[in-house]
Amino acid sequence: MKIIKTKNYEQMSRVAANILSAQIIMKPDCVLGLATGSTPIGTYDQLINWYKKGDIDFSEVTTINLDEYKGLSPENDQSYRYFMNTHLFDHINIDKDKTYVPNGLEPDSEKACSEYDQIIKAHSGIDLQLLGLGNNGHIGFNEPGDSFEKETHCVSLTESTIDANARFFSSIEEVPTQAYTMGIKTIMQAKKILVVVSGIQKASIVKKAFFGSITPEVPASVLQLHRDVTIVCDEEAFSAL
Ligand code: GLP
Repeated sequence: MKIIKTKNYEQMSRVAANILSAQIIMKPDCVLGLATGSTPIGTYDQLINWYKKGDIDFSEVTTINLDEYKGLSPENDQSYRYFMNTHLFDHINIDKDKTYVPNGLEPDSEKACSEYDQIIKAHSGIDLQLLGLGNNGHIGFNEPGDSFEKETHCVSLTESTIDANARFFSSIEEVPTQAYTMGIKTIMQAKKILVVVSGIQKASIVKKAFFGSITPEVPASVLQLHRDVTIVCDEEAFSAL
């Protein structure tokens, strides 16, 4: 596990964008696993800037996102498809047909999840997976539990996650209670993993997840077992260590 400590959010975003762009330069037709949440927004902004300057070409890149709320349409401004379009895809030269997000409108969970796993397998897996870190240690929407969930599955979100994500909705009742998420096995099969973490509110979970024991109660702790993980963490998020 490699930890890069940065001064602040801006620097964290720049370092993470550097790692993603290096991946694209080394393998222009790479498969990137992408994440939502507030933390990667600065990383995406930086990638957009470099694209506009002519430094990165996304034309051959495929992206596979971690998760999507069950029940939200791509047009819903709280859906993760909408997030990805507005924060990244609409601003770069990526072929949208090569960008994948689980189908939140598929009511049959088994169908939605097995279709998503097929998409991942058809692309022979993920070259570089970007992750944020939930306040309770979740990655994607893999919530704390009794075992490490394997492939794409439907989850019931915990109260802590619903509370944390309520800030994006006009009321807490509007936050979906379920989501489709890539599983831990799929995340762990990515060739490289890049985690971005920022802010004082993440300090104690950073300590638990990356320096505590490996347990499904802290899903991100499994990353300690991956052979190529880079954690880019700002000073505040690192402050409990
Ligand atoms: C959501 C997403 C996660 C993300 C987490 C943390 O629950 N499903 O992928 O990592 O939020 O978000 P933030 O970066 O806003 O703290």
